Amino acid sequence: MKKVLVIHGPNLNLLGTREPQIYGKTTLKDINEGLKAVAAKLKIQLIIKQSNVEGEIVGLIQHARGKFNGILLNPAAYTHTSVAIRDALAACAICTVEIHLSNIYSREEFRQKSLISPVVTGSIFGFGANSYYLGLQALAKII
Ligand code: DQA
Repeated sequence: MKKVLVIHGPNLNLLGTREPQIYGKTTLKDINEGLKAVAAKLKIQLIIKQSNVEGEIVGLIQHARGKFNGILLNPAAYTHTSVAIRDALAACAICTVEIHLSNIYSREEFRQKSLISPVVTGSIFGFGANSYYLGLQALAKII
């Protein structure tokens, strides 16, 4: 069975109450349950983590090498700032799909640059919780 690591970045633990006009009312628990349902259909084993700490996310990516077939990553605010997460992805070379709930290219200028996109297999953004489900389906096809 293929294994996928889901990493939710900072503040995504607050989904449901966090800026619902942008991120919707779906909670992280709802998204994780939806992901588990999609994974079961695709016969994929999922491990799901959330961290507000950049170094922890770097650690998760490093640890995934040789243990996971793919990563589904919403780097959240670190998308726009983290050379460390970008370098970890480049170093570990695991098939990774970058996820965003919102369309980062239609938002503030500082969000319109992703340091992560150049080192991932692909990115899915702008579909709310469905970005995650579409991302997992895309990942399943290539791992
Ligand atoms: C986000 C977009 C980021 O700009 C923001 O910092 C987030 C969430 C998204 O899923 O739309 O925390 O990654």
